[in-house]
Amino acid sequence: MTETGSSASGGRLAHRASGLATSGFILQGRALGPDCERVHPDFEDANFINHRKAYQFISQWVADKVVLDMECGTGYGTAILAELAKHATGIDYSDIGENMKLKQLIFGMVTFAPGMYPLLAKGTGGTDSARYCYSVWLRHLVMAQKNGLNTHPKTVAEIGPGDSIGIGLAALISGCDEYFAFDVVKHADIGRNLAIFEELVTLFKNRTPIPDHNEWPEVDPRLEDYRFPAKILDDVRLNTALESSRIDEIRNSVRDFQRKDSIISYEVPWYEANVLKKESIDMIYSQAVLEHVDDLRNTYAAMYSWLKPAGYISHAIDFKCHGTADEWNGHWLYSDFFWKLMRGKRPYLLNREPYSTHIRLMKSEGFRVICDNKTTSESKYTVDQLASRFKCISEEDLVTSRTFVQGVKNFSTTERAA
Ligand SMILES: C[S@@+](CC[C@H](N)C(=O)[O-])C[C@H]1O[C@@H](n2cnc3c(N)ncnc32)[C@H](O)[C@@H]1O
Repeated sequence: MTETGSSASGGRLAHRASGLATSGFILQGRALGPDCERVHPDFEDANFINHRKAYQFISQWVADKVVLDMECGTGYGTAILAELAKHATGIDYSDIGENMKLKQLIFGMVTFAPGMYPLLAKGTGGTDSARYCYSVWLRHLVMAQKNGLNTHPKTVAEIGPGDSIGIGLAALISGCDEYFAFDVVKHADIGRNLAIFEELVTLFKNRTPIPDHNEWPEVDPRLEDYRFPAKILDDVRLNTALESSRIDEIRNSVRDFQRKDSIISYEVPWYEANVLKKESIDMIYSQAVLEHVDDLRNTYAAMYSWLKPAGYISHAIDFKCHGTADEWNGHWLYSDFFWKLMRGKRPYLLNREPYSTHIRLMKSEGFRVICDNKTTSESKYTVDQLASRFKCISEEDLVTSRTFVQGVKNFSTTERAA
């Protein structure tokens, strides 16, 4: 992986973590084995010579600077920079192999260096696929029907759309009038949104069946029936929704959210409930987001305030460790201090709140929970083995790995949990 310090020697570098520095991990020099690196100081071919020239060129700017060399390969180039730099660190993920936990830790630590997160962040996955967005939107809608909720919401809001606003676009294409998205990082861009939009239009025009759990095994909620929901999106509704003037209107909004007549709003970052008018939204949903939200109480409170009286929320929440531990619930073993290192300066990671926190907050903020589809997974740990902060969680929390919840705005304050 790395190399550091102005004392670093060139050439063959090590793959052994030996400590921490303010700029990240320090690894020290030692010979490499066969490493499949594209350029290697032991093979002075044209490729290597050009590569070395690039490092020599860059070295004019590193004098007395703290340098991080990402994807440093063998690290020979890091050593060139280290000759002049105050401190040079090289990192190469190949050294970490499949150790996700270590990757996450290193990623978090590296983000302590100012400006590193945007350079390293690689998108969220999921909403970069039109079929995923289509599947997620239709699943929320099918569950709404199953639970007797409004299947034709006019105004929808999404928390954490991720790589694209595709789930919201699916909502608009299927007949919603306005869509509001709230994220903390601007993952989505116009090009991807437009490409996903065109694919979604085709999926709806073809009344494509809902992509199922064979295609998206990790996506909640699972349905009993993945046929196109023709009862919800009947021909009258869908043909009207797919009229070319409507599709043009949505497309124009995707091209420019700032247009006066845009029916899409994308608020990034958002932190306050006042970004949206009170009692203006029919349905608020999220997919694999609420486990990341830092301020859960205020987020549930904001959702409550945005909803119209008969509005509802619909959320898929995943309590698993997202690669930060070897076991699905291994992130509950970590102390708060270790977790701070794991997170680094990322704008979000996981709030590590278990299932019951969400249900409690939903109720205390005024929602009546009408659907709670839990998935349980075996726990290798007992509650006693968890970090002190989690020792009081219930046996139910310990084994609840995901849930899909829907809740209605409940005006009867007497029904609110204490
Ligand atoms: C795992 S991604 C899921 C993205 C998308 N919903 C999907 O299904 O692919 C988590 C998303 O939550 C967003 N996020 C994290 N904290 C948030 C917050 N407080 N408010 C809104 N979005 C947040 C992240 O920026 C990211 O877009």
